Amino acid sequence: MTLDKHWMPFTANKNFKAAPRMIQSAEGMYWTCDQGQSILDMTAGLWCTNLGHSRTQVAEAIFRSAQTLDYAPSFNFGHSDSFVLAERLAHLCPGDLNRAFFTTSGSEAVDTALKIAMSYQVARGKAGKKMIISRELAYHGVNLGGTAVGGIPVNTRNYSRWASVDLLPHTLDIERNAFSRGLPEFGIERAEVLQQLVELHGAENIAAVIVEPISGAGGVIIPPEGYLQRLREICDEHDILLIFDEVVCAFGRVGSFTAAQEFNVTPDMMTMAKGLTSGTVPMGAVMVDDKIYNTIVDASEGIEFFHGYTYSAHPLACAAALACLDIYEKENLFTRAQNGVGKYLEQVLHRLKDLPGIIDIRNYGLLGAVQFEAQDNDIPMGSQVFAKAWENGLMIRGAGDSIIVSPPLILEESHIDEFSEKIWQSIKSI
Ligand SMILES: Cc1ncc(COP(=O)(O)O)c(C=O)c1O
Repeated sequence: MTLDKHWMPFTANKNFKAAPRMIQSAEGMYWTCDQGQSILDMTAGLWCTNLGHSRTQVAEAIFRSAQTLDYAPSFNFGHSDSFVLAERLAHLCPGDLNRAFFTTSGSEAVDTALKIAMSYQVARGKAGKKMIISRELAYHGVNLGGTAVGGIPVNTRNYSRWASVDLLPHTLDIERNAFSRGLPEFGIERAEVLQQLVELHGAENIAAVIVEPISGAGGVIIPPEGYLQRLREICDEHDILLIFDEVVCAFGRVGSFTAAQEFNVTPDMMTMAKGLTSGTVPMGAVMVDDKIYNTIVDASEGIEFFHGYTYSAHPLACAAALACLDIYEKENLFTRAQNGVGKYLEQVLHRLKDLPGIIDIRNYGLLGAVQFEAQDNDIPMGSQVFAKAWENGLMIRGAGDSIIVSPPLILEESHIDEFSEKIWQSIKSI
């Protein structure tokens, strides 16, 4: 087998191919790599395998579906699992987020939500409302829409912003909020910038605001107290839709089914993916408020929304998602991040403060980041710790000068102890 033909995503291809990290199998909280070494998964893959790896019940559901209905087109045809899944998601979501539009990924969910926002404004006679307000350091996937509203410069700078977009300031404030546990105290005033952007661009031109309730890939940036509520109020005042990108946060990551419920702020649309199928079969969804669905659907007699994917509501993905929901509910996993195990992870993460060079540690539920002082080094500290951790049998994520953890929701205190031992060893050996 040669490695050079596969152009790997978000990877330093030359470095990887010179020293590959190959994964062979996975079970529960662990990966096994091709050298036979066991690796503790403290990232749930890419924030997605919330149920831990290789769950038999999910595998069997996927297998059954592959044997009985391998594929069904979702344009003009239906199969029962997608309707059952939509109903279960609607039941779990807050407010009137009762309609599910299925996609194949988080990126597609974001682009779909942006198109729904614009279609909604057109359907209600406000076609001028096209602009989207996003936020610095935001990650909304890699499709053109998600890139246009992205706030991480390396992800966006090669591509012109094809859509009309402006950015709110991010809310990371290490000077005032360093080493916060849970919601940081300071920063609500950064929501007021939305008011200024509305004055600048005119509410009559703005379709929606999109934010991750907690910015994930931007470095686990937790919203200051009251900040999301204030965004909601300003959107309401100016007739602007609020979209929460919950691709990371939904499905128990923050201690409730969604961050919207955890923070008690209901958006008009919500994107999901990752935990929906616990990473097993690619799937995303946009949960849409009744008023948006009704406005678009009532505005036309034919096809109301010219949008969809060959693999929207794919039977294997629906079967996987339904099996995952059964497990989440049976094992009470949506709220597990709130209880003992989340608190224990918080304690263990904050103990790292005693190591030199750490300028911030922040966490919420089963999400955490440790930020190092920026160094004059081509390889940022996050990548250095990531590489050492892998050698020590631990998967974490490196993001610039930070490391991030987002473990499967099934982790036990013993896994956190193992993480603690390995992360100390990894950081100290640099
Ligand atoms: C908040 C957020 N939105 C969208 C995406 C894109 O999801 P996908 O990689 O499934 O396209 C991600 C992926 O990490 C994400 O974190």
